[in-house]
Amino acid sequence: MPAWLKDAVFYEIYPQSFCDTNGDGIGDIEGIITKLDYVKSLGCNALWINPIYDSPFKDAGYDVRDYKKVAPRYGTNDDAKRLFEEAHKKGIKVLLDLVPGHTSEEHEWFKKSCEIDHNEFSDRYIWTNGAFCGIANHPYVGGEAERDGCYMLNFFKCQPALNYGVLNRTEPWQMAPDHPDCIATREAMKDIMRFWLDMGCDGFRVDMADSLVKEDDDVKSATGKVWENVREMFDRDYPEAALVSEWSNPECALKYGFHADFYLDHHGNGYNVLFRDGETEGGDHSYFKKDSNESPIRFLADYRHKYENSKKYGYISFISCNHDTPRLTKTMDESELKIGYAFLYTMPGVPFLYYGDEIGMKYLENVRTKEGGFQRTGSRSPMQWDDSGKNFGFSEAPADKLYIPVDASADAPSVTKAESDPDSLLHMVKSIIALRHEHEDLQADADFEVIYAKENERILIYRSGNLGVGVNPGLEEVKANKKDCTGIPASFSGDLIYKIGEAGVTEDAIVLGKQSFAILK
Ligand code: NOJ
Ligand code: CA
Repeated sequence: MPAWLKDAVFYEIYPQSFCDTNGDGIGDIEGIITKLDYVKSLGCNALWINPIYDSPFKDAGYDVRDYKKVAPRYGTNDDAKRLFEEAHKKGIKVLLDLVPGHTSEEHEWFKKSCEIDHNEFSDRYIWTNGAFCGIANHPYVGGEAERDGCYMLNFFKCQPALNYGVLNRTEPWQMAPDHPDCIATREAMKDIMRFWLDMGCDGFRVDMADSLVKEDDDVKSATGKVWENVREMFDRDYPEAALVSEWSNPECALKYGFHADFYLDHHGNGYNVLFRDGETEGGDHSYFKKDSNESPIRFLADYRHKYENSKKYGYISFISCNHDTPRLTKTMDESELKIGYAFLYTMPGVPFLYYGDEIGMKYLENVRTKEGGFQRTGSRSPMQWDDSGKNFGFSEAPADKLYIPVDASADAPSVTKAESDPDSLLHMVKSIIALRHEHEDLQADADFEVIYAKENERILIYRSGNLGVGVNPGLEEVKANKKDCTGIPASFSGDLIYKIGEAGVTEDAIVLGKQSFAILK
């Protein structure tokens, strides 16, 4: 386990939309380099950058055409190397995005795979043995290549699935995961990882990490074997590099070798019920909505087993948002976000902050889809640096040449505005991340145990290492009688080291005022 993860707070950068230094309307690597001090000022000491590889950009770069070449619109491989070096000088680690499940249909491997004559890449993708022989339970394409077969898709039509084999085989064209051609796919992916790790990158966020072996069993044991093999390489050759999975099942992902796994928005899971439960009947039921009247019990029912069963292997990664998810400002106001963020950035595991969430950037409704973004495009608009600058300081390009238009609303936030307001979300985010860095009990390895949580009650009190944390997202003050609490740390003095709203400890109760968050010694 790379030691630096213990105190890591990640910042996710969507490179297209972060900072454009050459005026073409698209963010670039040089732009990221110029903003490293800003990242540092937030307290973030690690980056995850969405794909920067050469691509036809039908899925914003998740359709990779050349894994070993930076897309010219972002710069060159030398720029990427410089980014790693400059980030390291400032104590910032850099994760790239690895897309192992599929390539672009324009990748050289795929072009070779489409050929009639058998070659090294014929089985790099999953093909049936006839243009009229389709694939059950998976999207596929037939009739597009000279080769007499249909190929499986992993996501959009432009993203053919790479071949890591099929576990439960029912068709003659399906290959076992240990077939040499499937092993060759894995080795090709390891070669790509080595390429970037040797250049200085610090690991990968892994796209659709659970998608490799098809018709896998319930616990994805065959896909897990691929990752165990990759992890062996990391432990042996790159022990300080990190692997973070897009899997959202830490009980599997961490056991198979990932150091951290995202807690993503899946309907009804713990992350969803905290922040994004707007789809059930009768309004928004998210715990952090001030008027939702939800207790923390639904969150705990999902989180506790995930945490307990995975903590010895690695970390759960809470996110403010990501490039696939509506920004929380779509449904939450600043008072709600402050409580939610305070919780998120002090939980055990390795948290991620999505660019712009620190200033409360909006989810832009009605923005035109860009590069396969569709409704995701609203979360991918240009970073708002400076409200007095052109395009918020994102780019010197004419407004109609921007990758995605900037937020045109009168009350659009910006970094400059937030910096000058002492009560801003930005200052709150900086202060909670700074506090996390000061206290090991608020970092990745802190031990989490519930002290007080009840059905039909709003508050959650828990132990994080030797600290107590109290959360009340609701609009009424709530008292927890100490006699109803379990596991209060022996050293507990009740002294506050951080609070939002009003909170305190009396002789016999912990008192949490409306919309409050408190950390107690
Ligand atoms: C998940 C990525 O986060 C998303 O943006 C992408 O479209 C799909 N995987 C396909 O790679
Ligand atoms: Ca640019």
